[in-house]
Amino acid sequence: MRVFLKEGIVVDIELANENYIESYLELIRGLASDKDSYVIVNYSDILPDLAGVKERSKLWNRGNISMHFALQKDRVIGYCGQKIGPTYGDQLQPHISEIWYAVAREFRGSGLIYPLIFQSLRNTDVKFVQAYVDTRNIRSAKVLENIGFQKMCKISENILDKRNNVFWDEYYFRGEREEVLKILKEKIDKLSIIMDV
Ligand SMILES: CC(C)(COP(=O)(O)OP(=O)(O)OC[C@H]1O[C@@H](n2cnc3c(N)ncnc32)[C@H](O)[C@@H]1OP(=O)(O)O)[C@@H](O)C(=O)NCCC(=O)NCCS
Repeated sequence: MRVFLKEGIVVDIELANENYIESYLELIRGLASDKDSYVIVNYSDILPDLAGVKERSKLWNRGNISMHFALQKDRVIGYCGQKIGPTYGDQLQPHISEIWYAVAREFRGSGLIYPLIFQSLRNTDVKFVQAYVDTRNIRSAKVLENIGFQKMCKISENILDKRNNVFWDEYYFRGEREEVLKILKEKIDKLSIIMDV
């Protein structure tokens, strides 16, 4: 899917594939040293390497895990992953998926996150979508609230920050996929972002 952001910026949102692994790793490494980022690498004391990412990429878009990349030419500038059956597996939770996402620093505030989540959710058939957000991550919580997710509860000490040896609290968010897609479409229109679907 081609996306036209403001100021003539064109981005493609595609299913992830192995051709982009190095660029994806570069994005992840950037996030690892980004003080405003709250993805897995920000809690870990080891950086992922190429072999590790290659291994994990074998799960992308097979079985219950999907991964979309936002691409500017060949550069990965964002991603949205999704897993069906996040807690009990896709046999017992075929109706729930979990999403995780990030965009490169220079694309924050551009609205890119909305078509990215839109494209990920459009391609699954679950009733509910969930996400965990560090309580310090105001931007991410706002994005989810903007698109119709509900903050269900706060879970104390839900993730260990291995770098600093401290546990952080997270919010548990949940939305109804169809409702979220409807609100996402409205939000994208309001931002004057054009999606060539
Ligand atoms: C989370 C992320 C994808 C959000 O995308 P983004 O492009 O930064 O989102 P926006 O700039 O649209 O900001 C979202 C909202 O937060 C608001 N916001 C931004 N900074 C804020 C601050 N310091 N205080 C209060 N609100 C703030 C914005 O105004 C916006 O609200 P609005 O749409 O109602 O105007 C992006 O910040 C990111 O990639 N972060 C690093 C990785 C990460 O943490 N991923 C999520 C893990 S759960």
